[in-house]
Amino acid sequence: MFDVNKVRTDFPMIQNNDVAYLDNAATTFKPQCVIDAVTNYYTHETSNVHRGDYDLSYQVSEDYEKGRETVARFINADTREIVFTSGASMSLNLVAYGYGRKFLKEGDVILSTEAEHASNILPWFKVCEETGAKIEYIPLSSEGEMSVEDFKKAMHDRVKVVAMAHVSNVLGYIQPIEEVTKIAHEYGAIVVCDGAQSVPHVPTDVKKWGVDFLGFSGHKMCGPTGIGVLYGRFDLLQAMDPFMLGGGSNARFDICGNILLKDAPYKFEAGTPAIEAVLGLSAAIEYLEKIGMENVYKYEHELRVYAIDKLRELDNLIIYNPNASTGIITFNVKNVFAQDAASFLNTKGMAVRSGNHCAKILIELIEASETIRCSLYFYNTKDEVDRFVEACKEITVENCVGIFF
Ligand SMILES: Cc1ncc(COP(=O)(O)O)c(C=O)c1O
Repeated sequence: MFDVNKVRTDFPMIQNNDVAYLDNAATTFKPQCVIDAVTNYYTHETSNVHRGDYDLSYQVSEDYEKGRETVARFINADTREIVFTSGASMSLNLVAYGYGRKFLKEGDVILSTEAEHASNILPWFKVCEETGAKIEYIPLSSEGEMSVEDFKKAMHDRVKVVAMAHVSNVLGYIQPIEEVTKIAHEYGAIVVCDGAQSVPHVPTDVKKWGVDFLGFSGHKMCGPTGIGVLYGRFDLLQAMDPFMLGGGSNARFDICGNILLKDAPYKFEAGTPAIEAVLGLSAAIEYLEKIGMENVYKYEHELRVYAIDKLRELDNLIIYNPNASTGIITFNVKNVFAQDAASFLNTKGMAVRSGNHCAKILIELIEASETIRCSLYFYNTKDEVDRFVEACKEITVENCVGIFF
């Protein structure tokens, strides 16, 4: 049985602060078990992985690879398909660089949406510049939702890559990923899914979803910063190039410059990895598994509905995504600059984000260049939502004078 009050005792940041932290799409708090896993590495296990002929190194190498098994289990993949990266940005860049630059050519099309985060669109802009491929956009509703019908209409034979977020970091809709992959595969295209805002919030099953690549970040799912994952179908990982070479990624090289790379995932993990962060991510996943991702999603959805019902009663707000199902609520206060409103909320002990949220081409769709984003996670409470709603009532131009810092 999910108990939010019990869960909250696991998080030192909640115990040590009064702030209502409503910026979970940016990063999340860490439970004690994750902090312990990281410090345990530095206090008891420090040594490099896959390199030493002594107990400490064997032990930490084993724990590191167990971390890969944990990630694989969490998303229903094979361990050979789990590449550790520094975060979702690196994961998505790696696909664009290693697959896009190698396999796309002039005339090919990358199909994407106007709601993408910079990390899932800028790498593809670069691929287009270098290969002559071009980007086309799937039409979205004014709230940022994609219909299967619109996706079908946008697909055609020249589309080789569909690159899209499963959940947009601004509008929070869950896009119909299973239908997308089915249709894309009928055309021989691959699907690169940005899971930064979905893997932490919904049960993930890469086999069921049918995605070819999936990138996500540890720090948005209770794990440490500096660690992320690229899931890739093994045959695709084998075919693509790494964008970094070095120790640990090669099986052999010689004086003539011949390089024999290891198989995936190791060929993508040159250099000493973020060992403590892998161990921390593994602890975070085990923690989420104990809570259960169904419970995470269900609780977050209920909290969102509770918040939306209350916010809808305020006539000073414009809500851009009232019907989304995840914990992201994006809005503006009439006549008040978004950053002023967020700064006002800060004076009331509330952490929210304002701005364009790295999704700069979404502006035209929602007709707002700046918005305020409240993003919930499973440790937020109705009480925090009540405080947030009360504070929103008070946001007026007059109350925001001189507040911006
Ligand atoms: C949808 C989406 N994709 C990608 C990223 C990039 O994640 P990171 O900064 O952890 O690499 C973010 C971060 O906010 C995001 O929200």
